[in-house]
Amino acid sequence: MFSESALKQQVERRRTFAIISHPDAGKTTITEKILLYGGAIQMAGTVKARKSKKFATSDWMEIEKQRGISVTSSVMKFSYNDFEINLLDTPGHQDFSEDTYRVLTAVDSALMLIDGAKGVEAQTKKLLEVCRMRNTPVITFMNKFDRECINPFDLLDEVESVLKIKCSPLTWPIGMGRDFKGVYDLSEKCIRIYHDNEKRHEFDTIALEDLNDVKLDDLVGNDYADQLREDMELLEGAGTPFTVEDYISGEVTPVFFGSALRNFGVYEFLHRFLEFAPKPQSRQAQERIVAPDESKLTGFIFKIQANMDPSHRDRIAFMRICSGKFSRGMKMYHCRLDRMIKMNSTVTFMAKERETLDEGYAGDILGLYDPGLYKIGDSFSQGEQLNFKGIPNFSPENFMKVRLADPLKGKQLEKGLIQLTEEGATQVFRLVASNDHVLGVVGVLQFEVIKFRLLHEYSVEGVFEAVPYTTARWYHCQDEGTVKKFEERYIAQVATDVKEKKIFLCNSTWDLDYAKKKFEGLEFYQNSDHIPV
Ligand code: G4P
Repeated sequence: MFSESALKQQVERRRTFAIISHPDAGKTTITEKILLYGGAIQMAGTVKARKSKKFATSDWMEIEKQRGISVTSSVMKFSYNDFEINLLDTPGHQDFSEDTYRVLTAVDSALMLIDGAKGVEAQTKKLLEVCRMRNTPVITFMNKFDRECINPFDLLDEVESVLKIKCSPLTWPIGMGRDFKGVYDLSEKCIRIYHDNEKRHEFDTIALEDLNDVKLDDLVGNDYADQLREDMELLEGAGTPFTVEDYISGEVTPVFFGSALRNFGVYEFLHRFLEFAPKPQSRQAQERIVAPDESKLTGFIFKIQANMDPSHRDRIAFMRICSGKFSRGMKMYHCRLDRMIKMNSTVTFMAKERETLDEGYAGDILGLYDPGLYKIGDSFSQGEQLNFKGIPNFSPENFMKVRLADPLKGKQLEKGLIQLTEEGATQVFRLVASNDHVLGVVGVLQFEVIKFRLLHEYSVEGVFEAVPYTTARWYHCQDEGTVKKFEERYIAQVATDVKEKKIFLCNSTWDLDYAKKKFEGLEFYQNSDHIPV
């Protein structure tokens, strides 16, 4: 029997996080450096190579190869010192943000990577909003300081004003670009000297008595030493002091400066991250809160990915373990299907390969081979009825009607659309008035993916037609009369989602505002999770 304290210890050791950034900020580069420290990869360039056409892990689809982007995200697990780290990768391309959003529901914290030359960019803003919905703690890494960047104070100001999160720098850059000298570590009161050498994993750390220490002038020169003194004075007066509590509650983000490419600052980040990033947290289910060190195994599916391995053409469901201990071969209760399922074919994901997972604890991610049993949001337990919350559908921003080129293939189309919806590749709505299928996605590139997959996996040629909708909202009102009147007025724009929840497909934001004004008491929701039950 596994003791309670042994289980607690396993939970303590785990850190499950994702990196959020705008494409090109350096996510692949920093992932690679982090994995190098963990020994999960031996060679720089491994992760980078995956991005290339030749090695893309998810190169199952021509679209990915043609565009050179990674459509789907993966999970990387590795050990470092005494920690078990699960790094959940998120697709970099902005068109695939829905998948990224869902990955964020399965992590306990996030690393926000910002290109120091560009500041806060659109994708980062969207992703941080998702983190804020769940109060996910966020650490910030200001990248590319080996290049000319925005003034660090302006960068912090931008994060604070645009992202509405307070910044507390834990390191501070000395110079930048060609004159990048290194960083000052505010808590350890030392200087880390930058060497322009990509392969270095070590750096010179020089302790200072205080900022007036002449060593500082010798190391970085008088001008930079004075600048640092001035910056620190300013920070002391106007900066936000760091406390772990404020970070855990999602109110403050600790900030590091460095260069992922030159592997400078990544080591400090990783160490401080392990020191204060949260271990697996309790999770809210509809029925109750589930603590990570409860003895019974629970979890939920946050992602389904098809054809990860082109030679297998398989589907894998990703389950985040929320509590208990997983052992291979054990049975779990599939709460939606109300039946026990034997967990035989499970995998975990190392940086490069799949390995069989024999044991797992809260925070770990299980990959389950899916014969068609799983849907995003499914909850599992050891017999108890549980429904984990917080795996919402996001309101799509692009719509297309899908029709069959060959009308005899209706069944295949239905099957294909259901499976693609279960995987979260698209949302499918059925117009109440006409019964037509309308696909809704967050990014337009998803349409191409769906068209391609319908044709290659289900032998269905879908004809996609433009529709006038620009946004969608789930709606709810206590008063059934109001709902009825609303639906009569907007008969051509009312649809149902796969869970039979009603959704309003609006032609413009003006349309939506008008409906809001006209039908008092009717509430509109961007996120299906927020509709009252
Ligand atoms: P992504 O996954 O977030 O999309 O970004 P990725 O790591 O692929 O990095 C995007 C570009 O930024 C790459 O250059 C990468 O080398 C560069 N980069 C990442 N971190 C740093 C850094 O700290 N300093 C500098 N100077 N550059 C950085 P590229 O030219 O697009 O690709 P490559 O030819 O270098 O492979």
